[in-house]
Parts: sequence; structure tokens; C-alpha cells
Amino acid sequence: MRKRLEHLKAEAWKYINDAKKTGELDEIRVRYLGRKGELTALLRGMGQVLPEDRPEVGRLVNELRNQLETYLEERRQMLELAELERSLELETIDISLPGRQPPLGHVHPLNQVLEETKRLFISMGFQVVEGPEVELDYYNFEALNLPPDHPTRDMQDTFFISDDILLRSQTSPVQVRVMEKQQPPVRIIAPGKVYRVDLDATHSPMFHQVEGLLIDEGSTFGDLKGILNAFLEALFGKGRRVRFRPSFFPFTEPSAEVDVECIMCNGGGCRVCSQTGWLEILGSGMVDPRVLEMVGYDPERYQGFAFGVGMERIAMLKYGIDDIRLLFENDMRFLTQF
Ligand code: PHE
Repeated sequence: MRKRLEHLKAEAWKYINDAKKTGELDEIRVRYLGRKGELTALLRGMGQVLPEDRPEVGRLVNELRNQLETYLEERRQMLELAELERSLELETIDISLPGRQPPLGHVHPLNQVLEETKRLFISMGFQVVEGPEVELDYYNFEALNLPPDHPTRDMQDTFFISDDILLRSQTSPVQVRVMEKQQPPVRIIAPGKVYRVDLDATHSPMFHQVEGLLIDEGSTFGDLKGILNAFLEALFGKGRRVRFRPSFFPFTEPSAEVDVECIMCNGGGCRVCSQTGWLEILGSGMVDPRVLEMVGYDPERYQGFAFGVGMERIAMLKYGIDDIRLLFENDMRFLTQF
């Protein structure tokens, strides 16, 4: 009997030592101490023990039962602690790790110069208006002193939709739409998309213009130069060279185009400026009396000036972009630089 007890103890201790989880300890407890457990069975079998040996054997069985309970409890506490520590380790949150930054969106370089331009003209008292991109021939050409079959229509290769409907090739038709509705004084800018059959490093079939129009009594070419110089100086700073060059538009007289020194070559001549050292950014002039007459203004009383700025060219010059197409490809590697 004593031998069996010792054997049982050795066996139980070994199981307990090997247990890796508290659940296993429960199984061991049932196996030895449960109602059908091995130690319980031994107690039941006391009948076969000689009467004089019973007290001693009973004491040994009880002792073993107590030791078993105590040891099981000790092991349980050890394993629980270990399990707790393991799960604490697994579930720790490293609060010193930097958080994941969602990528921050930002304004497209073209919209940046567009916004800056609007802000500037608004500060000088101009109102922002818009007109349709699908336009009537009348507004895009005829009312701007470009009758059908007039050779200067070829200056802008136009996308026609039908004989008298087209994609506007300039924002100038908005001038006419505003003047038809409103009596002078007029002081507006009209930003928007325009379309021409054209494509290379400095031309895109769709691009953006900002049209400007000021009509009042006694306005002069000097006012035009003053306003455009203020605009360009605010955009590019005082240092950048700018020139007014005599030009021709059917709806202005006299007319001037404005060039800015090419930023890519600093005026030396390169691919972007077609070796001229200059980049044309806008057309302008005093509004032709014919245009004023056609909207019912009295050209003897009112004069004014107009201009149309190419916004992609402005963005290219401001940010040193050497190909207009980059502005439309939406390559993030390019865009995130601004
Ligand atoms: N509409 C002209 C162009 O796109 C520019 C311009 C606007 C010229 C206003 C004079 C006055 O070429």
C-alpha cells in the first residue's frame, strides 16, 4: 500500500510539473482527487487493508491528498502568473510608437496660382464671374469683332461642335456676356477652361485663362499697364523681368502681349521658350470701340481695357515647371512637390 502511494505521488508530481496550462492542472485534480479519482479509489479500497494498518494508511492517504492539493494550488498560482505575464507582454501597446499619418491632400499648383490671382484682383475691386465652356460662335468670335471668314479666326484653332456652337477658345466671350447684362462701370475677372487644337511642351488642348475687363469713363492704357504690373509683381516678385510687346487682337486696339523672362534659362533661350528667352503669358489691350458698340455702350463716353492670362504658363514660370503636360498627368511624385 505504502509502495502504491509513493508511486502515485511520484507520478502525480511529474504530471503537475509538466503541466503548461492551468487547464491541465484541473485535469490532474480530477484524475487523482475526483469522485472517480485514483486517490479516492485508494480510500475506498481501505477494506482490504489489515485493520491494524488502517490508521497509518488512512493518515498517509490524507497526507498525500493534502500535499497534492497544496502543490496543485502552488502550481496553479505560478502558471496563472506566467500566463498573465505572457498576455501582458503580447498585448502591450507601445505608446512611444509614432501614429500612422494619413497622407495630407493639398492644392494643385494650378489651383494655387488661380486662387492667388483671384485674391489679387478681388483686392483691387474686381468681381469674379463665369461663363459657359460650350459657347456660341457669336460670343466667341462675332461679338468680339471677328466676323465669319475673318482671317484672324485662324489665330486660335477651334474645336467646333456645329456651325455655330464650339468649345470656347478663349475666355473673352465672357466679356460680351457681362457687358450685355450690365451697364458701366464694369470691373470683372472671368477664370475658366478654354480649348484649342494644340499640343506640345507649352500648349495643351485644354488650358485655363483668367479674363479681365474694366470699362469706365476715362480709363487708359496706363491703367492697364499699372494693373498688370501690380499683378505680375505680386505673383513673381519685383526681380522678374517683364515686357509689353505690341500685338494684334480684333477686339482690342491698341493691343499688347506680355512676356515674362523664361525662368528655365533665365532669358538665355531654351526649349521651353523656343530659344527666345521669353514666355508669353497674356494678351491685352484697350477694348475696340466696335465691341462696345455691339453691346450698346457709347464708345465716346466709355473706354476700357481687357486682358486674358494663361494660367498654366503662370504656374510653369512660378514653379519652374518645364512641360505643361505635367500639370494634367496627376503624377503624385510631381504633385506632392508643391
Ligand atoms: N483672348 C485672347 C487670347 O486668348 C487674349 C486677350 C484677352 C487679348 C483680352 C486681349 C484682350 O489670345
